[in-house]
Amino acid sequence: MRLENRTAIVTGAASGIGKAIAVRFAEEGANVIVADRTEVPREGGEKTLDLIRAFGGTAEFVELDVADWNSVDAAVGFAVARFGALDIMVNNAAIGVSKSLLETSEEEWDRVMGVNAKGVFFGCKRAVQQMLTQPARDGVRGRIVNISSQHGMIRSPNDLAYGTGKAAVVYMTRQIAGDYAAEGIVCNAVAPGKILTGKSGPAVDPDILAYSEARTPWPRLGRPRDVANAVLFLASDEATYITGENLMVDGGWMAN
Ligand SMILES: NC(=O)c1ccc[n+]([C@@H]2O[C@H](COP(=O)([O-])OP(=O)(O)OC[C@H]3O[C@@H](n4cnc5c(N)ncnc54)[C@H](O)[C@@H]3O)[C@@H](O)[C@H]2O)c1
Repeated sequence: MRLENRTAIVTGAASGIGKAIAVRFAEEGANVIVADRTEVPREGGEKTLDLIRAFGGTAEFVELDVADWNSVDAAVGFAVARFGALDIMVNNAAIGVSKSLLETSEEEWDRVMGVNAKGVFFGCKRAVQQMLTQPARDGVRGRIVNISSQHGMIRSPNDLAYGTGKAAVVYMTRQIAGDYAAEGIVCNAVAPGKILTGKSGPAVDPDILAYSEARTPWPRLGRPRDVANAVLFLASDEATYITGENLMVDGGWMAN
């Protein structure tokens, strides 16, 4: 029970990696706000809330668009009204367009950056506003974990907007960690490599899978729970004196 009496918001928690993080947090005793535009998992299967409640965990669903300030504000307000605090914010929701520089329209750029960069800015800003009102426990008022990607540190083939948004997430993580450390805010990122979530579409295009396998030294691709375990560590009291870090969970992709 590494997160007992802690309240966490996980954005994009209806599907894939966000769902695994929400479930992992609930297994460790957290009150989890499953925050997403929809409750329907992209990869199919049970809804996150049903899965958590089936093993006796505590969770609520909040409909949220991370690109809309009022929506983010309302989700944090709901967490505090329902559970009394916001201890952990996981900014996980993201989208892509699978387009190169020349193919990307202004509208596509704005849409992706609106979720992947502005959405994380809103999530961090609203979380820090709330966390600064809370008493510190062992010097910590709250913990933020942003989900970045190896794409953003190295090129994201054929997704300029996605990679640019992810680079922004890594930068924001460092700056927030530095600016608010003295006030007890811990801010880290986790960078997944290729994670098989079960969804279809471009994520499992045979060329993308072949590229990912060729880049990954570990003899399998990633699972959502690989990422969830790393996020859990950074969200827990076990992560001390660690802030501004971008932890790769990539089977060695970036070491290769
Ligand atoms: N799967 C991978 O291989 C991989 C690799 C590197 C990084 N990541 C990152 O991990 C995170 C999760 O990836 P995933 O593969 O599980 O994604 P996914 O597409 O399976 O799930 C994303 C979830 O976010 C939600 N979402 C999208 N836009 C939203 C918005 N505006 N407001 C609220 N919710 C919104 C979707 O409804 C969905 O439930 C993302 O940040 C992604 O960039 C994934």
